[in-house]
Amino acid sequence: MDDLMKAVVIRAFGGPDVLEDGYWPIPDPAPGEVRIRIEATSVNPIDLAWRRGELGQKLPAVLGRDFSGTIDAIGEGICDLASGDRVWGYQAGLASNGSYAEYLCLPSLLVAKRPRTISALEAAAMPVVGLTAYKCVCEKAQVAAGMPVLVTGAAGGVGAMIVQLAQHAGASPIVATAGSDRSAAYLVDELGLDPDRIVRYRGLSRKELAAAVFDRAGGHRPHIAFDTVGGAMKLLAFDTVAVDGHVVSIVEEPADFPLNLWDETASPMSMRSLSFHFVELSAGARLVGRDALCFFRKGFDWLGTQVDAGLIRPPRIQDMGVLSADTARKAHRLLATGHAGGKLIMTTGSHR
Ligand SMILES: NC(=O)c1ccc[n+]([C@@H]2O[C@H](COP(=O)([O-])OP(=O)(O)OC[C@H]3O[C@@H](n4cnc5c(N)ncnc54)[C@H](OP(=O)(O)O)[C@@H]3O)[C@@H](O)[C@H]2O)c1
Repeated sequence: MDDLMKAVVIRAFGGPDVLEDGYWPIPDPAPGEVRIRIEATSVNPIDLAWRRGELGQKLPAVLGRDFSGTIDAIGEGICDLASGDRVWGYQAGLASNGSYAEYLCLPSLLVAKRPRTISALEAAAMPVVGLTAYKCVCEKAQVAAGMPVLVTGAAGGVGAMIVQLAQHAGASPIVATAGSDRSAAYLVDELGLDPDRIVRYRGLSRKELAAAVFDRAGGHRPHIAFDTVGGAMKLLAFDTVAVDGHVVSIVEEPADFPLNLWDETASPMSMRSLSFHFVELSAGARLVGRDALCFFRKGFDWLGTQVDAGLIRPPRIQDMGVLSADTARKAHRLLATGHAGGKLIMTTGSHR
């Protein structure tokens, strides 16, 4: 058993019950890779899609994209990281296994020294949501000072990071959607949003939602609308964004989604001269490979600097307990409600 580690494994696709306690080979780092002893991992919606078999992955598999931990072995050619470095990282599909495990090996550019001012649990909450927000706000949409923006799903993992990066860039006003009192309180008390800018979406028709956004934005249309929810929230983004504005989405839709993007007189894109950006965090790693990985190191370093300067804080976290199939099943069920109320974290025995 010396060369085996504990992991949460799936041997079939399906519901949360396919998550099993198991053993997996401890991987060795190839040239250009580092091995991490994982301290904490967080659960992302993509883990649920992976578990359901929607990503075309092979079986058996160890799920998990996000992690914090300590480097315990390095492959040939690594000179900017060393054993003992405390790191955070993103398993972009190029790693030995997912992060619901004690160890993983992956290309060093998917890992960076983590911020000194946050815990291992908070560090494990940030990679997917922080990097996705960074790509949305800093690379695709280029939010500028004084720009009105709309953020849907603002109290969610990605939404909360987009709100903070937009605040950092000086966007104003920032209009945000919230479902529950808890979400609204988080946006106001912890992220510092103006309570008059929050749209409580529940029970509102499509028309009422758009009217609420215009009202909360002081009669203006947002220049950039971020869709982190999909469905009615994506329609809201297109319905409200200003002429020459941008819609940025991270959520796919079914083929029969009722938005006509191409008709001259029906499309919000042609009617209001909009641009649409879809951000898929792992696309570069998946389709371009190692040449695309510099983005991740750059994003980690930028986020880490902002965190240590106190300018950005990690999303809310909920410690679900020690990594096991039982803990992972509970976390998957809670995340599937769409209202988990914070990033769900699992820790390993090596967590200090
Ligand atoms: N393309 C990419 O690269 C990429 C990367 C990361 C995530 N994603 C996707 O982005 C989405 C969000 O991820 P996440 O990690 O931020 O999820 P999350 O933490 O679960 O947050 C989702 C948020 O959506 C809001 N929400 C749920 N149902 C809603 C509804 N019917 N109307 C309006 N808002 C609703 C909730 O806010 P309230 O509680 O306030 O309602 C919740 O805070 C997921 O679909 C995920 O798969 C894509």
